[in-house]
Amino acid sequence: MHQLYINTIGCQMNVYDSDQIERALTPSGYSRTDQLEDADLVIVNTCAIRSKAEQKAFSFVGRLAKLKRRNPDLLVGVGGCVAQQEGEKILARAPHVDLVFGPKAIPRLGRLVERVRLQGLRVVDTEDTDGFEELDLASGFRDDGQVARFVTIMQGCDNFCTYCVVPYVRGRETSRHPDRILEEIRMLVAGGVREVTLLGQNVNSYGLKEDLGSFAELLARVDRVEGLARIRFTTSHPKDLSDDLIDAFARVCKLCPHIHLPVQSGADRVLKRMNRQYTRADYLERIGRLRRARPDIAITSDFIVGFPGETEADFEQTLGLIEAVGFDGVFAFMYSDRSVAPAAQFKGKVEDALKKERLQRLLRHQEVFTLRASKRLIGSVQDVLVEGFSARPGLAGDHAGARQWSGRTPGNKIVNFDQDTDCAGSQNVRPGLLVGVRIEKAFTHSLWGRPVWVEEKPGGSKGDTCHAA
Ligand code: 5AD
Ligand code: SF4
Repeated sequence: MHQLYINTIGCQMNVYDSDQIERALTPSGYSRTDQLEDADLVIVNTCAIRSKAEQKAFSFVGRLAKLKRRNPDLLVGVGGCVAQQEGEKILARAPHVDLVFGPKAIPRLGRLVERVRLQGLRVVDTEDTDGFEELDLASGFRDDGQVARFVTIMQGCDNFCTYCVVPYVRGRETSRHPDRILEEIRMLVAGGVREVTLLGQNVNSYGLKEDLGSFAELLARVDRVEGLARIRFTTSHPKDLSDDLIDAFARVCKLCPHIHLPVQSGADRVLKRMNRQYTRADYLERIGRLRRARPDIAITSDFIVGFPGETEADFEQTLGLIEAVGFDGVFAFMYSDRSVAPAAQFKGKVEDALKKERLQRLLRHQEVFTLRASKRLIGSVQDVLVEGFSARPGLAGDHAGARQWSGRTPGNKIVNFDQDTDCAGSQNVRPGLLVGVRIEKAFTHSLWGRPVWVEEKPGGSKGDTCHAA
């Protein structure tokens, strides 16, 4: 057996792709390790969305030179979006790199690695092939105990927001055949997975180009997968959020009441220059429709601060939008120039110091809404899908400071609870079970509560009731 170490940088797409990389190399005798020192092959799965992510990739690749001096047989591969963007240039820049491959080359990875290993060649594969190339599902999945997994349903993007590298590095939007998606989900569920997050840059347009059926139809099919408890998806583009999809929140039983709907800015001037193709009013109207269809829906978003030409007044419009919506949580980023994206040529660049200041202001502004959304849940009993132990010692309860169970609510909020309360059922808690937790405390990034019922077995009845629910 050869040992494979993968360093994943960037978004959920890359997390999924790293699993695919592992699967593509299983038939060649590779198995994944989390010990860098043990690796025969190190792959860096890179992200190009902001310059910081790109720097992180190059700095990790740089560190591998030393490792390779100690172990000349070590193979080094660079994959992902930076690989796609830079291609051959990476080989010139880093003489210890053996292989450069883009996201679409993953199904060919077995052969590429063989060429490097057996023929001693340095190989680049950044070919942008048409269509959605599938890995052979026979290579299966390593069961690493994860109860929630990502499943890619489409690649690429056709929207060309002016700041974004995605259409250039991940190519045109391509949807995956629904039968393949269903096959993969069924296999995951057979391995103990209970929640899937369907991934695409713009799930609203799933299947339209290829006539594979709509996203709402796909959701209905996934909903019928036996044993699956929850469905999530990301990301949805506000410009084409359809009535069908909004309806799905009311109709599809397993679809969690959470939508990540990146708005990027609250100022029409900026949205226009970003080529987002909706206005602030359009966005607010869609939020209203979503909330009417599903009043408990959690709404999160992405923002970019300091986009070229963004004035103080524009930024204040963004703060105003945050207030108008009352998001459950947001991600915010300082605009980063990407040479392939048109905004790199735009005038009116905002100074770094000002971008930093706006980022801090935005995050501070949002904090009250995040906390407010969490506090709203105090006193309610939330279905929590247990994922494992919390990474940090618990913040609250009779056993604060000790290890606690951790999972998520349907609205995607993290809930921690004690494993050894006086509740008999809680002795049976394990990852993959749903537990009803009465929320008692709300923090900015997590909630804490006490279990009131514990599912007997995945998909089973509620089983032990610990306290009066
Ligand atoms: N600079 C800063 N943030 C960016 N994003 C995408 N491109 C850039 C960029 N050039 C952000 C957007 C997007 C998220 C995934 O990353 O907010 O929604
Ligand atoms: Fe980038 Fe816009 Fe496509 Fe999202 S929708 S990947 S921001 S081009």
